[in-house]
Amino acid sequence: KVLGLRMHPLNEWITNQVLTRKEFADKLDISVATLSRYLSRDRVPKPEIMRKIIEATGGAITPENFYFIGNYKDVQFKKSFFGTHLLSIEVLNANEITSILDRSEYFIKPYENLLNSQKNYKNRTLINLFFEDSTRTKTSFELAAKRLGMNVINMQIETSSIRKGESLIDTAMTLNAMHPDILVIRHSLSGVPHLLADKVRCAVINAGDGQHEHPTQALLDALVIRRRKGKIKGLKVAICGDIAHSRVARSNIKLLTTMGAKVNVIAPKTLMPNGIENLGARIYNDMKKGLENTDIVMILRLQHERMHGSYIPSPREYFRFYGLDIIKLGYAKRDALVMHPGPINRGIEIDSQLADDIDRTLILEQVELGVAIRMSVIEHLISNTEN
Ligand code: NCD
Repeated sequence: KVLGLRMHPLNEWITNQVLTRKEFADKLDISVATLSRYLSRDRVPKPEIMRKIIEATGGAITPENFYFIGNYKDVQFKKSFFGTHLLSIEVLNANEITSILDRSEYFIKPYENLLNSQKNYKNRTLINLFFEDSTRTKTSFELAAKRLGMNVINMQIETSSIRKGESLIDTAMTLNAMHPDILVIRHSLSGVPHLLADKVRCAVINAGDGQHEHPTQALLDALVIRRRKGKIKGLKVAICGDIAHSRVARSNIKLLTTMGAKVNVIAPKTLMPNGIENLGARIYNDMKKGLENTDIVMILRLQHERMHGSYIPSPREYFRFYGLDIIKLGYAKRDALVMHPGPINRGIEIDSQLADDIDRTLILEQVELGVAIRMSVIEHLISNTEN
């Protein structure tokens, strides 16, 4: 048995009953915190509590279920959890986001954890289906799956041969016929992963669709922030640059506001999409005002491949007003940290020296933790399909 990867049996029982922890704790007359302690430690509850647990579960859970070697990870799986696919951040609540982040912490740490987990997924397959260029995201998914012991197939797709509609669905149906467990899809059109998710029988992960969403990027950014700042709630985060064409911005705004952070978006008017304030962000066209008092500054690339026409007068002028350098970073808090999803364009949206300043920028840490986040997401999806 692979320990440390399974849910605590009581946790599993609670989940299967579609109960919340609170509801179950109330039945036992104990606090949620106490219940959570029982679910994460190898310790049998006090006799009077144990008796109540046996009674409440109709004998399904006995003291034996509390003895084991190793630790069950205290992860709350819920029936309402994002289900079979991860297509957007929109559908996740704060608990679900926290559970993905918590589980990734486990994958950052000791190597033996990874060795244990490899046994679990030997016969599982992940297919990377990237219709757009990508270095880090594709590699990250590949590495994550391989660290979990899965087989990985990278589809070689010539962008030019891809047509919309039928042929796209045909591709998906062909892959589906090979029974993969997970299909990771990136496409330049918003909504493609959703469309294909309806057609295939495996779990679909959206690895970036047009300018809509890029959920695993926002999750890994959240993990980096939480580890560096100790929390997400109450922080002030500025997202600067090409907001209009950015799926990273949309996923991040949704995630950060759900987790209780304040988000400022900063861009010239031409790169600020209409209605972005409806996602809960505050709009600024000026770096000085927008960066004031921020804890995290996220910089975005000018996404020329999604632009039709000219949105900025020149790269030099853009850098002058919106490129982040050490002077503009001075408008933020003294200990503000800089993030960028990559790929970076030095001297356009970020000063080259600042990009390399490991005391201020977290760019490579984002890449590093991305693998752990994707392992966590893959594991969540596979255990959801098992249930
Ligand atoms: C982003 C993307 O592709 O959406 N990059 C990434 O996933 N690391 C952002 C970008 O391309 O600028």
